[in-house]
Amino acid sequence: MSKALYTGSFDPVTNGHLDIIKRAAKLFDHLVVGVIENPQKTPLFTSAERVEMLEELLKDVDNISVDSFEGLLADYVNENNFTAVVRGLRAITDFEYEISMAQMNAQLFNQGIESIFLMTSPANSFVSSSMVKEVVSLGGNAAGLVPDCVFLKMKEKYKS
Ligand code: PNS
Repeated sequence: MSKALYTGSFDPVTNGHLDIIKRAAKLFDHLVVGVIENPQKTPLFTSAERVEMLEELLKDVDNISVDSFEGLLADYVNENNFTAVVRGLRAITDFEYEISMAQMNAQLFNQGIESIFLMTSPANSFVSSSMVKEVVSLGGNAAGLVPDCVFLKMKEKYKS
């Protein structure tokens, strides 16, 4: 059985992430969406909140589950028998970061585990969680960039 991990901070999940998740789920028997705590970033949403939003948004897709983990990605991947790790690519700037991460992970992954990249749909090529946060924190409109329920939760967070 092929089992892939699509991992990231998802702070918050965007429509770009959801597009990649749904496309990746068609390529593997099972896809785990793995929410990771990145110590370099100060999250807007707790990892429990991010998992809850993803579970709600993906509840109708049978072969997707949502998990969260801390620490080294390679440890989680090796310990849970993944076939592949999926990441999305929006632009050349993503490529530079992603290739160094993929090459480091290639040293750390058990043999045979691949990093696989899907190109973001053109409609989402400019959408990033960090830019959406900046827009919403300044009172801007993120409709169409993140699901409506996520936009609402973001507005609540910035209000409080
Ligand atoms: O959504 P993001 O923040 O771009 O995802 C980056 C992420 C979480 C995939 C990356 O920071 C990561 O893998 N962090 C876990 C720690 C780790 O394994 N670091 C070594 C990467 S080579």
